[in-house]
Amino acid sequence: MTGPVGVKVGLIGAGTMGRRHLDALRRDPRVEIAGVADVVAASARTAAETVGARPCGSVADLADLGVQAVFVTLPNAFHGAVVLEALDRGLHVFEEKPMATTLEDGRRILRRVRTGNRVYQMGFNRRWAPSYQFLRRHVDAGFTPFSANVKINDGDMLTPTWYTNIAISGGFMYDTAVHLFDMVAWLVGPIETVAALGRRSCYPIYDDIAMLLRCRGDRPVAFTTCGHASWAAPQERVELYGDHALLVSEDLDRARYTTREEPQAEWQRFPSPDQVTLWGYVDEDRAFIDAVLGLAPPPVTVDDAFHSLAVLDAAYASIAAGGVAVPVPTL
Ligand SMILES: NC(=O)c1ccc[n+]([C@@H]2O[C@H](COP(=O)([O-])OP(=O)(O)OC[C@H]3O[C@@H](n4cnc5c(N)ncnc54)[C@H](O)[C@@H]3O)[C@@H](O)[C@H]2O)c1
Repeated sequence: MTGPVGVKVGLIGAGTMGRRHLDALRRDPRVEIAGVADVVAASARTAAETVGARPCGSVADLADLGVQAVFVTLPNAFHGAVVLEALDRGLHVFEEKPMATTLEDGRRILRRVRTGNRVYQMGFNRRWAPSYQFLRRHVDAGFTPFSANVKINDGDMLTPTWYTNIAISGGFMYDTAVHLFDMVAWLVGPIETVAALGRRSCYPIYDDIAMLLRCRGDRPVAFTTCGHASWAAPQERVELYGDHALLVSEDLDRARYTTREEPQAEWQRFPSPDQVTLWGYVDEDRAFIDAVLGLAPPPVTVDDAFHSLAVLDAAYASIAAGGVAVPVPTL
């Protein structure tokens, strides 16, 4: 149970990601997990039991339990409507990525959050992962990335079962690449145009994509993503090029800073007690609770969420247009 400074939360979508957030949330003594909702009653019941919560079926049920905040961990296409309903019910919202599968839903959420007084945080967990924190610390300390080369791959697209169903997922890049769009914007600068080439190779949707991004300040970024690369590490790698200096990260647990004077600098390795910590879920959930309690603003804002969705939209528009550079919508 929460004390006087606690937050009563609910979660909707008791699948893989929902269970990870429950694991993260139960480590925060300020949190009371009151309800877990899922359209599949058995999933709600099993997940709710693990945290001593009430199984439910919908956001309305969670609101009836008196929760102040809700975690939305549903398949992508259901995010928009449920987030809007939660905001309408006066709930603070933590939303898993992507923000939505249509720009229109994204715009609705953006307007609703901007004109309301509820906390909204997007689930870009990599901002708390140690390898990306290492890069960001160097950028904050004065390293200027003039250009970058990034990749993020999946071994296959078999799970979740709806991954290759565009009507539910939105497309391959709505799942994984969206994380690195946020990393590029966070580390290099907002993405202004995208030129993308795509290929359907092993699945019926675009699963091989190469892009050229232009970030603010005319900074070029080469970005590739593949959905059938085997699970060999590193699945993701970011290289930031500075003034005769290089910042590089591989996956979430190692990074390196080299300079002209020290080209052989050692890799830094960042061990974590478990995956939920390494991937940043524990810290991002704590940051959301801080924001709900008014201790700090949410670190990943609705504007950040919308920017990543706008980049996705521009990237698919560019593929459809044969690779021309498409401006990233700002609203
Ligand atoms: N940040 C990350 O690292 C990360 C990792 C994996 C997934 N995700 C995101 O988390 C979300 C969930 O992904 P997942 O892999 O857990 O999916 P999943 O399929 O494992 O779980 C989704 C759950 O939602 C339930 N559900 C579906 N429609 C519903 C509805 N209308 N109302 C209530 N419940 C409903 C399903 O029964 C299922 O239990 C996705 O948006 C995905 O992009 C984020």
